[in-house]
Amino acid sequence: MATPTFAHAVFQTGQLDTMKQWYLDLLDGHVVYEGHNLCFLTHDEEHHRIALLQLPVPVERKAPNAAWMHHLAYTFASAEDLFQRYVELKEKGIAPAMPLQHGMTTSLYYEDPDGNFVELQIDNFSTPDEATAYMEGPEFDGDPVGEPFSAEAFLADLRSGVPAAELTTRTWARAHPLESGLDWRRP
Ligand SMILES: [Fe+2]
Repeated sequence: MATPTFAHAVFQTGQLDTMKQWYLDLLDGHVVYEGHNLCFLTHDEEHHRIALLQLPVPVERKAPNAAWMHHLAYTFASAEDLFQRYVELKEKGIAPAMPLQHGMTTSLYYEDPDGNFVELQIDNFSTPDEATAYMEGPEFDGDPVGEPFSAEAFLADLRSGVPAAELTTRTWARAHPLESGLDWRRP
């Protein structure tokens, strides 16, 4: 059986230029094509990863309780890479809506200008098998969402030399809780 790979996501929007700049910033991407109320972006070897479609009618912001995809996710190679992007985005006024320690990933959830979430993450384990074993274990079963944490505390500890293996745990996250904002554990 042939195995396809994931290619791209397309968003319909009422604010093409704002969405375009946000995704260019988030992904450090570039425009491949723009015109006819469309914009195609990429940040890697693929010809386009994100496309934006400006609708010719008034567009409502996605309601939080709408049935739709919850988020896209992108993986960085290291905590240093992820938090370098965190710092670059913060300088552009883009902050995560919620940093979340899932256990198998350390994740920063950003909310785009239309209300779609995008997760920037690192894998906490070096192999998918180790992550799968974690997801089959008691900590994950007890709480499959994880711990919101302070991104600023993570950055400070990372810069001060705390090993990533210690930082990327729920134990560390519980000791450095999210200061304010979203918490998906609360109804
Ligand atoms: Fe995710």
